[in-house]
Amino acid sequence: MRIVEINASTNYNVYIQQGLLDSCGDITAKLVKGRKALVISDSNVAPLYGERVCESLRRSGFETSLFVIPAGEESKNPENLIKAADFCIDSGLTRSDAVIALGGGVITDMAGLCGALYQRGVAVVQIPTSLLSMVDSSVGGKTAVNLSKGKNMFGAFYQPSAVLCDTSALSTLPKAEYSNGMAEVIKYAVLRSGKLLSLLQDDADKVIDEIVEECVRIKRDYVCADEFDRGERQFLNLGHTVGHAIERSSNFGIAHGSAVAAGMCIVARACANMGICSEDTAKLIEKLCVQFELPIDSEIDSETLFDASLSDKKREGGEISVVMIRDIGECYLHRTTTDFLREILSKGRGGKV
Ligand code: GLY
Repeated sequence: MRIVEINASTNYNVYIQQGLLDSCGDITAKLVKGRKALVISDSNVAPLYGERVCESLRRSGFETSLFVIPAGEESKNPENLIKAADFCIDSGLTRSDAVIALGGGVITDMAGLCGALYQRGVAVVQIPTSLLSMVDSSVGGKTAVNLSKGKNMFGAFYQPSAVLCDTSALSTLPKAEYSNGMAEVIKYAVLRSGKLLSLLQDDADKVIDEIVEECVRIKRDYVCADEFDRGERQFLNLGHTVGHAIERSSNFGIAHGSAVAAGMCIVARACANMGICSEDTAKLIEKLCVQFELPIDSEIDSETLFDASLSDKKREGGEISVVMIRDIGECYLHRTTTDFLREILSKGRGGKV
């Protein structure tokens, strides 16, 4: 089994192995005193893996209950958060028991927040089932639900007690979702280069456990350096400033991973056109995105993207942070004004959508 230790405000392990769902009872039993576990999942994942996870928990002596929300981003809302918390009460969950998050990013974010708030905090075991949630959302303690006026606007930093990545769950992931996760994997490769870059150039599916481990290690380094996202962790936003604008302008019709891939390529081309990185660097990033069937630009015009990015500006108190690319493995954080974003958008477009 691959294990990555996270030493943040609390210490925990990320376990990576095929078939790990069946060990979640044993792992959880070592972490909590209580013997009640509430599994929170969605209508896509619960029918596939809900019973298997509950069965593993029961074998380890847990009394289990399962709370299922409809699959999809629109479920990540305060109403479902409160319903989940009410269900914790109905299930008799105490502070020494556990919330188990079983699903993709919507579930890991919402169940993480439910665990953070219920009785001021119970143990949360994250079991991400999408590539995106394995390499990003389940690790690092960011939890949230969306408000009608903004994505992830209502949340908390709350580290889980363990993260279990069962990579065999990826076999049931729709292809487009797998590609979305790959956008974040490419992001880590651009940030750090090295091993991950060569793993991506191999047959990625065959080395997916190694890829997940490497991404978690990279994320671990950023989270441990800056758990509360005040500096270093913002490198993880590579491609996200433009990516968020693409997501928002499409009314979230364009998936996060696709938007980040396009955002990363726009920044890479702009950096090449400004003489900050080489043409070859920008081309390599595009090539990686194309390899995983991700877009390298968007059909949305630059003016619309610029307007959409203004709400990020408000959120960051008048400044915008753009992660710039000098080379693969050599990025830097540029705190700037929206004017600079106009320049990125004018110099970075032109990729074939
Ligand atoms: N998803 C970016 C972060 O965890 O900071």
